[in-house]
Amino acid sequence: MKKVAVIWSSPNKDGLTASAGKRFVEGLTSAGAEVEEIHLNSRKLEHCRACGNGWGSCKKSGVCVIQDDFAEIYKTLAEADGIVWISAVYWSDMTEAFKVFFDRLRRCDATKNHFLAEKRCVLVACAGGTGRGTLECLTQLERGLTHMGMRVYDRISVVRYNKDYILPVLEKAGETYANTLETGFDMYY
Ligand SMILES: Cc1cc2nc3c(=O)[nH]c(=O)nc-3n(C[C@H](O)[C@H](O)[C@H](O)COP(=O)(O)O)c2cc1C
Repeated sequence: MKKVAVIWSSPNKDGLTASAGKRFVEGLTSAGAEVEEIHLNSRKLEHCRACGNGWGSCKKSGVCVIQDDFAEIYKTLAEADGIVWISAVYWSDMTEAFKVFFDRLRRCDATKNHFLAEKRCVLVACAGGTGRGTLECLTQLERGLTHMGMRVYDRISVVRYNKDYILPVLEKAGETYANTLETGFDMYY
């Protein structure tokens, strides 16, 4: 059985982003995956201090000096076979909670540990306002994942106008992704 981490961020536990995550998880579990959900806004996460005049001690140690929930979440991601990244769209970008976590993750993983390299991921951006900015948000997420050597299997844009047909698609996507984690990916970058 494959382990999938679903990491998501919106302060709203009952909104569009939460619904997207819920439907994806339903698809994953229906295909037999073991799912670990991480709601970033509920966790204690400080921003990167850019210690050591910029590059930080994490470049040598692979460990962040800040004592909060970062290390535990990083371990969950490192142990997962697949990762689903779901963010609400703020200012055509990922949420602040995501940015804070992502900055520290990238430093530890891209410069030293490489625990996340080669993982196949799914990206979901949820824009509940005008619907503008999902593509920029997905691009920003992918940029960070690429620095860490991860690969993007799919990029899904959710807006309030497409939710009636995209939420069922997310469920199907979860099922397909879980099955593909079992059988192997036929993709190149
Ligand atoms: C600070 C802020 C910036 C936002 N920027 C955008 C945006 O660029 N495009 C958009 O469609 N919606 C935007 N929104 C709306 C969020 O995307 C919306 O709240 C999103 O659907 C999250 O939904 P949820 O709270 O239901 O999870 C913004 C909301 C906030 C609070």
